[in-house]
Amino acid sequence: MRVGILGSGLMGGKLGTIFAQAGHEVVFSYSRSEQKLKKLAREVKQGSAQYGTPREATQDADAVLLAVHWSRIDDVLKQTGDLSGKVIVTCSLPMNDNDTDLVVAHTSSGAEELAKMIPKARVVAAFTTVPSEVLFGVYEANRETSRPSLMYCGDDESGKRVAAELIRDVGFDPVDAGPLRIARYVEPFALLVAELAYGRTGGPELAYRFERFRA
Ligand SMILES: NC(=O)c1ccc[n+]([C@@H]2O[C@H](COP(=O)([O-])OP(=O)(O)OC[C@H]3O[C@@H](n4cnc5c(N)ncnc54)[C@H](OP(=O)(O)O)[C@@H]3O)[C@@H](O)[C@H]2O)c1
Repeated sequence: MRVGILGSGLMGGKLGTIFAQAGHEVVFSYSRSEQKLKKLAREVKQGSAQYGTPREATQDADAVLLAVHWSRIDDVLKQTGDLSGKVIVTCSLPMNDNDTDLVVAHTSSGAEELAKMIPKARVVAAFTTVPSEVLFGVYEANRETSRPSLMYCGDDESGKRVAAELIRDVGFDPVDAGPLRIARYVEPFALLVAELAYGRTGGPELAYRFERFRA
């Protein structure tokens, strides 16, 4: 599929590169440096990657990855044009300016607030619960079994199927956590993962796995 990347930093740059290597057509966008976008597109070894404006990245996209800081959401959405019907996979967490706390929680979530901003789009929350540092490792491990889990949630089933395909392509086992409102629980979990990844010993190359044990 064609995947537009809005925000080509740690998450967007790495996920876009992996999506391209997995066979998708990727368009990187929304960096302050055109050189950086150009380099990202050029360095994709296998697969197809281009760069462009947010409008170009989203125009014919089958899926759009939103990977910008919460404070940049309004700005990037102003530059995309109409997102009606588009699958928007958001990994953006509703963090304050110095990334210490969620600014939306308990009674709503970043994903739900985003969906209110673009009510005709099909918003799926995914990739919030893993650090960028683990993404290439998971992709390269390419496990058949015992894959790390990755939670996602959303209200549109077809949008969720698209997100699950992308999650699988990166090397995770997609875990459907339910409707978008479950992002209220997922987003604080993402901060827990960040605490384990960056605040404890062992390094940030951290993923998690849910297992069921039936007697
Ligand atoms: N990093 C993680 O491990 C991680 C994990 C889970 C979720 N998240 C969430 O994912 C989202 C993206 O995080 P990230 O770590 O990928 O962020 P990042 O590395 O800072 O990337 C953000 C992208 O937005 C671009 N941008 C364009 N205009 C900007 C402006 N005026 N000010 C700031 N940035 C601007 C940046 O441009 P430049 O290229 O010029 O910097 C960059 O390409 C965030 O909402 C974060 O909470 C991150």
